[in-house]
Amino acid sequence: MSDEQSTSFEATGKFPAVRMRRLRHHPAVRELVRSTRLTPAELIQPLFVREGRNIRNPIASMPGQAQISPDLLADEVSQAAELGLGGVILFGIPSRKDAVGSEAASDDGIIPRAVRMAKQAAADVLVITDLCFCEYTDHGHCGVPTNATGRIDVDNDATLRLLAEQAVAHARAGADMIAPSGMMDGMVAAVRRGLDEAGFAHVPIMSYAAKYASAFYGPFRDAAESAPQFGDRRSYQMDPAAAAEQALREVELDLAEGADLVMVKPAMAYLDIVRAVHQRWPGVPLAAYNVSGEYSMVKAAAAQGWLDEPRVVVEMLTGIKRAGAGIILTYWAKDLARWLD
Ligand code: PBG
Repeated sequence: MSDEQSTSFEATGKFPAVRMRRLRHHPAVRELVRSTRLTPAELIQPLFVREGRNIRNPIASMPGQAQISPDLLADEVSQAAELGLGGVILFGIPSRKDAVGSEAASDDGIIPRAVRMAKQAAADVLVITDLCFCEYTDHGHCGVPTNATGRIDVDNDATLRLLAEQAVAHARAGADMIAPSGMMDGMVAAVRRGLDEAGFAHVPIMSYAAKYASAFYGPFRDAAESAPQFGDRRSYQMDPAAAAEQALREVELDLAEGADLVMVKPAMAYLDIVRAVHQRWPGVPLAAYNVSGEYSMVKAAAAQGWLDEPRVVVEMLTGIKRAGAGIILTYWAKDLARWLD
């Protein structure tokens, strides 16, 4: 027997001495050799907050999810605390939209008010704020639109200034972490500088570093009332068919600009990207966003009796974690914490 063969025998063994099924026979052995475990502490629950009092508007395309007013947020955040979730991420639906999303930088805007309510209800729950303009602009784009080049586009550098202002308004209200999601070049550096200058050097940034122009965001745009009124987001969000290495460049740039945590979004169709980022930067906390369309697909099939929702969700999220994401943003965070219990 050659050395090479004996090494490979040691590594893989041979039937009948080796039977893989032995590790699967006893449930306790299966449990013992499990290496991917989901815990509530790594799950982030997205929440949609809108102006008003005592409002809970169910989102038709996302069964189980609702737009809620800040007063009802207290209850949601207390539940997150009881369930031991990793945190919540807030999306705001303002009552007033305009071309530059001016409401976004106001200390009385929907997100600052929601953050204050959340912090009052459960000071220890991590409150992350999504930082973007699509919910605040009447055109629904993630920044200041321009057609300077004859093509519909978003003015990158004009948007950066506004993003920094919005981030500072969130931090002043008590946001624990800021998550810029607009895919503007230089956005992490701009937000970092804004926060530092305003005395928030301790507030971490979780960057939507590799965010794709995805059809899986469809239901979210109803939930956040943020659908673009003209054109699409392909001039700033990534092309799903771009080389995977482009995502690595995006992550590398965001890290160089000061991102503390990075995100890949969506999750399921981009597990190769999750894997590649995790392998390249094993020490960087990596989040994956299990987006609205991924949620709604399963909900729709489960409602028909075609899928077993809890089992499918655990399997999906296990896959996302196994690919390398240590943090998962998911609309199932609360449900899953209960199922795991
Ligand atoms: C805002 C934003 C979007 C999502 C998160 N932040 C929508 C978009 O980019 O169009 C999508 C989340 C989801 O689909 O669950 N820029």
